[in-house]
Amino acid sequence: MKLNIAILPGDGIGPEIIEQGMKVVRAVCTIFGHELHARTALVGAAAIDATGHPYPDQTHQLCMESDAVFFGAIGHPRYDNDPSARIRPEQGLLAMRKSLGLFANIRPIVTFPSLIRQSPLRAELIEGADLVCIRELTGGLYFGRPQGRSEDGNTAYDTCVYTRQEIERILRLSYGYAQKRRKKLTVIDKANVLATSRLWRQIAREIEKEYPDVETEYMFVDNAAMRLIQCPKSFDVMVTENMFGDILTDEASVITGSLGMLPSASIGLHTSVFEPIHGSYPQAAGKNIANPIATILSAALMFEYAFNLAEEAEVIRRAVAASMEAGVATEDITREGKAYTTSEVGDFIRQLL
Ligand code: IPM
Ligand code: MN
Repeated sequence: MKLNIAILPGDGIGPEIIEQGMKVVRAVCTIFGHELHARTALVGAAAIDATGHPYPDQTHQLCMESDAVFFGAIGHPRYDNDPSARIRPEQGLLAMRKSLGLFANIRPIVTFPSLIRQSPLRAELIEGADLVCIRELTGGLYFGRPQGRSEDGNTAYDTCVYTRQEIERILRLSYGYAQKRRKKLTVIDKANVLATSRLWRQIAREIEKEYPDVETEYMFVDNAAMRLIQCPKSFDVMVTENMFGDILTDEASVITGSLGMLPSASIGLHTSVFEPIHGSYPQAAGKNIANPIATILSAALMFEYAFNLAEEAEVIRRAVAASMEAGVATEDITREGKAYTTSEVGDFIRQLL
């Protein structure tokens, strides 16, 4: 098969982890006889420096022409400490999500047996946890207008907007996932306070009738935040709006042992994007210490979702699990013993393949 991939390393640790991900992608293509066409483009702070824009037209063109986008991370401390910066790297990520129509962000959360002792949560709570968070990705507070400041600068506002169409499509997609899994869907909102959440709940109540084989559960987001670490095994598929999903999935990463473990797939109207859920981790940039596993597992999702190559994905996951069994891991997930570098972990996983 011919695989046309756009590579967007981005900022911070992005280039280092994407390099490891590409080692794995290339190895899998060689093993299975796929023809790989990979082209690289700029995004984020790197793109602002070069072009003045965090998601340049050229990058968008490449994404549109490709079958999948393999994305590193975005963000730079130079902008974090400058609230008045008019152009920010994160706008590149949001522009990409919006212009590719990536309305669903799929974040699978599974525990790895070799990492169970790594989690601050008790082993028996997380052993066997296996859930998927589906985060709506192109609506809500991230995109609602108006957003900004009053003239005197002393009042700021964001707007949370959701339409019926946006809510229906993400719910239907989520029911589809639940049907293929353990047939439970938790709809997470704040319907006791927010108008958008009440619309979510109203629509969910309407369409749950179309999926009688799936058990629908409703939960307020504050309660969900608690239950997620108190009894993660009670969840199968959860669906929620953009910002709740952003927060809950960082929290959920604790179940797996490290933020450096969670991959994601963003799917929608055009080319799908595969990226780790963690950010650009600027403190680690260039140090060869960042965990490449979230990125490598994102490559597995890419084979599975973008190319329908499930065996390739499974082979990658097995190699990742084996590297952890062997104790070849970066500092965030090594409790005792030697910590390996980003590139050593990448090389080891490639060798295992
Ligand atoms: C994520 C990130 C982004 C988000 C940031 C970098 C804009 O935290 O993908 O979860 O908030 O969506
Ligand atoms: Mn996030």
